[in-house]
Amino acid sequence: MYNSKIIGLGSYVPDNVVTNDELSKMMDTNDEWIQERTGIKERRWVSKGSEDTSAVMGAKAAKIAIDKAGLTKDDIDFIVFATLSPDYYFPGCGVQIQDMLDMPTIGAIDIRNQCSGFIYALSTADQFIKTGMYKNVLVIGAEYHSNGLDKTTRGRGVSVIFGDGAGACVLSRTEDNNKGILSSHLHSQGKHADKLIVKSPSIKHWVPEILESTEEDTSYYPFMDGTFVFKHAVVRFSEVIMEGLAANNLNPNDIDMFIPHQANLRISQFVQHKFKLKDDQIYNNIMKYGNTTAASIIIALTEAFEKGKIKDNDLVVLAAFGSGFTWGSVIIRW
Ligand code: UT7
Repeated sequence: MYNSKIIGLGSYVPDNVVTNDELSKMMDTNDEWIQERTGIKERRWVSKGSEDTSAVMGAKAAKIAIDKAGLTKDDIDFIVFATLSPDYYFPGCGVQIQDMLDMPTIGAIDIRNQCSGFIYALSTADQFIKTGMYKNVLVIGAEYHSNGLDKTTRGRGVSVIFGDGAGACVLSRTEDNNKGILSSHLHSQGKHADKLIVKSPSIKHWVPEILESTEEDTSYYPFMDGTFVFKHAVVRFSEVIMEGLAANNLNPNDIDMFIPHQANLRISQFVQHKFKLKDDQIYNNIMKYGNTTAASIIIALTEAFEKGKIKDNDLVVLAAFGSGFTWGSVIIRW
C-alpha cells in the first residue's frame, strides 16, 4: 500500500465581485441579514458573456495545480472532478478537462456529492493511489452556480449564499508512510435528500413539461430547508472530525489547521468553539466567495497554503457536510 500526498494546489475565481448591497438591488435582502446569518460579504459570479463554466474554471485551476506540482499534463494518470453544476447533463466535466488540457486518453470520473464533493473526490483519488493503480491523480472541485439561482426575493434564502469558483490539486504517490492522507471517512443519509435539492430537470419532469408549467414551478431552482440543514451540519461535522481523529489515535488538540467546507461562517465557528480551536487553527474565506460547494474546501486549502498557514508535518483536517445528506472528513499529515 502506498500513501498519497498533495504536491500541487491551484484555484481560480471569476473577476466579477457581487456585494451584498448589489444583491439588495435584485431582491428584498440586505447586507446586515446576509453577514449576520452567514458571514458572507461578497461572492464571485461569472459575468454575462464570460467563457467560464465549471469545466473551464476547473481547467484553469488544474493548470496551476499541475504547474505547482512541477509536473506536466502528461504526468497525470487520472482525473476526478467534483461538481453539482456540470456543463452538460452528460458527459461529465472530467472528460472535458482531458480535452481542454490536451491530456492523453486517461480515465476521468465525475463525483456528484455536492458540498461533500471534494472530500469524496480526494478520498476516491487516494484509493487509486493506495492500491498502486495510479501515481498522479488530478482532483478538481468547481461550481458555476450563479446562472441557476433564483435571483428574486422568492429565492433569497438560497441565492445570496452561493458563489462560483474552482480549485484543484495533484495527489501523488509518496513512499513516506507517515505523510499525506492518513484516512478519509465518508457518510450519507438519503432520507434527507429533499432538504437540499434541485429536483428538475429530471427524467420524470423533463424540459418540455417545465416550459409548459406555471411560474409556481420552481423545481429547477435549488431548494434548501436552511434551519434543518444547519442543525444536521453542526452535528455531522463534529462527528466525522472525531471519527477521523480517533481512527488515527489523535484528538482535537493535535489539529494544526482545520479547513471546513465553507457553508456558513456560523457553522464553522460552532465547530471551532466545540473543538477549542484558536483563530489560527481554522481557515475561512466564505466572507469573500460565499459557498462554492465542491470548490470551497480546495479553494480555502489553496489560499491557506499560499499564505503560509500550513507547514510541513502539520495535521490538516478537512470536513464537509451537505446535500444528500452527505458528509465526510479527510485527515492529512502535511
Ligand atoms: O453547503 C451545504 C450545506 N448548507 C448549509 O449548511 C446551510 C445551512 N443553513 C444556513 O446556513 C441558514 O439556515 C441560512 C443562512 C440558509 C438561513 O438562516 P436562518 O437563520 O436559518 O434563517 P431562516 O431561513 O430561518 O429565515 C429567517 C427569516 C425568514 O423570515 P421570517 O419568516 O422570519 O419573516 C426568511 O424569510 O429571514 C428571511 N430571509 C431573508 N431575509 C433577508 C431568508 N433569506 C433572507 C435574505 N435576506 N437573503
